[in-house]
Amino acid sequence: MKVLILGGGGREHALAWKLSQSPRVRSVFCAPGNGGIGSVAKCVPIKLTEVEALARFAEDEGIGLTVVGPDDALAAGVVDRFTEAGLRIFGPRQAAARLESSKVFAKEFMQRHGIPTAHSGHFNESSAARAFAETMALPVVLKADGLALGKGVIIAQTRAEVEIAITQIMDERKFGDAGKAIVIEEFLEGPECSIHALVDGKSYLLFPSAQDHKRALDNDEGLNTGGMGTYSPVSQLTPALEAQVRTQVLDRFIAGLKADGLAYKGMLFPGLMLTKDGIKVLEFNCRFGDPETQVLLTRLESDLLDLLEATIDGTLAQQNPRWKPGSAVCVIAASGGYPEAYESGKVITGLDEAAAHAVVFHAGTRLEGGALKTAGGRVLGLTATGANLQEARDKAYTAADSVHFEGVFFRRDIGARGLAP
Ligand code: AMP
Ligand code: GLY
Repeated sequence: MKVLILGGGGREHALAWKLSQSPRVRSVFCAPGNGGIGSVAKCVPIKLTEVEALARFAEDEGIGLTVVGPDDALAAGVVDRFTEAGLRIFGPRQAAARLESSKVFAKEFMQRHGIPTAHSGHFNESSAARAFAETMALPVVLKADGLALGKGVIIAQTRAEVEIAITQIMDERKFGDAGKAIVIEEFLEGPECSIHALVDGKSYLLFPSAQDHKRALDNDEGLNTGGMGTYSPVSQLTPALEAQVRTQVLDRFIAGLKADGLAYKGMLFPGLMLTKDGIKVLEFNCRFGDPETQVLLTRLESDLLDLLEATIDGTLAQQNPRWKPGSAVCVIAASGGYPEAYESGKVITGLDEAAAHAVVFHAGTRLEGGALKTAGGRVLGLTATGANLQEARDKAYTAADSVHFEGVFFRRDIGARGLAP
């Protein structure tokens, strides 16, 4: 079979890497890809916004399965367009992808179906938002309704910050139409945990847990980023909490789909907070996480193609994938300045040495006249497995220490919280 992956980040490199190992996959294509995906797939220079061109390419090339990476492609309806053309594609349709692209829609779904989440209100008018926020204890969490490149969540520590956030999101439309509506919710405390489960509409298949590190700097300091590194599994997700994930989130999610007449096939990635009162869902993502996918797929021993096809065919209940025991760690090497302004075009070296210790997934890289250069904020994801977390960390950090480009930085504490004290 020929497979097409949509996207060009570390997540898509991991998907291409894993699918290229399937005995049933003849070739892998990736649109648009990046400077490293070419080692396992053929990169196709079509942008994700060019949905018609992507569908034409899939048709002409005889692609047997297309896999969607990023949220905005799902929100733009790429799955609907492909499905209408009779093309097989992995991911939820636009209507169901609203669970990620509208936080108001997601909150209403959770409340309707008893899925534990933060106490909240949502508003279309800034005056009503202000009145509600007044009733909330500080800190207050304010979220633009729509997709905002991961930047639409503000944690306000003071009343003045609440006021500024509402003004920026709703009155000044700092995040564009994403700020037509706002969710205001209580601040939750506890470790975060990324859950991934394939959903075929009737049942789900839970993947191992992972934990992202969203802040740019060690000890969770600095600005929020797309994610600076992950590890899997997360020891704080005890068997009792995992049982809560099944009964309070995933079982209720499946029942909720039925009750609402909502079709959902694809990956469901709830972001959780493990609070002292139990698990709470912070958000739903309707896709694989980045960089969660890097650690999950390096641990997956079974054929990913089988799992993706079973999701589309509604036969997930028959799947029982094998996972590597032990741990995996992904350390992101980023461009100096990220997530704020940074320079691109820096020559990258040391990849052969890094590859002796870890799988090197490329994100913001491009090939220029045979040289590999930086082309984004998150540049590489050094991903290693080990018999335990310590071993996986040691390998991932040896790899991270081997790569060089001007301004490179990475967090030193990825997975540190998971180590025994
Ligand atoms: P979201 O896009 O909703 O997952 O929010 C992005 C990040 O903001 C999360 O990963 C958390 O770190 C933080 N966050 C979101 N909601 C809350 C909340 N209710 N309490 C505390 N932190 C939150
Ligand atoms: N790593 C977080 C995300 O993919 O949304």
